[in-house]
Amino acid sequence: MTNQIAAQMFITFVALMIIGLSGCGWLASLLGGSSTSSNTTATLSSIQANVFNTSCTSCHSGSSPAGSLNLTSGQSYGEMVSVNATTALTSMYLVKPGSSTESVLIRRLEGNGVGPMPQGGSALDAAVINTIKAWIDAGAANN
Ligand code: HEC
Repeated sequence: MTNQIAAQMFITFVALMIIGLSGCGWLASLLGGSSTSSNTTATLSSIQANVFNTSCTSCHSGSSPAGSLNLTSGQSYGEMVSVNATTALTSMYLVKPGSSTESVLIRRLEGNGVGPMPQGGSALDAAVINTIKAWIDAGAANN
């Protein structure tokens, strides 16, 4: 009888642990990781959806976009890839296929010697910037 109660208590304890741990994971994803940006993959369409549309097009869109740079879907590729910057570091491309270190987009996202983007906002997560670098270093395909 006592053994049975002990066994039931043990099972209840384990069940509560599992619920507790999965609850923590759920909470952690709510607090830290559930933002779409953490799902960004190294394709233009993913970067468009998770970065440009959410953090950039509030300024970089319309008939006179900030910095003369339109980052809306369907425009961002032609506006940046193998195109010289117009406001600073103008001898460099905004996106140089195969070379994230020579791309003004990355210099902007890292605030590296030039006004950081998003302007007035907090920097993107390093992991997201790394994903954008990977897209550029793999050739900056229109994918
Ligand atoms: C609050 C408005 C605002 C937001 C949001 C913003 N930008 Fe900008 N951006 C500007 C302004 C204004 C300029 C031009 C002034 C300057 O050069 O800093 C600019 C310039 C740039 C340039 C240089 C363009 C060139 O040809 O020289 C790049 C690249 C850029 N932004 C990328 C981004 C990206 C990527 C994001 C989102 C992660 C972003 N910006 C978010 C306002 C913004």
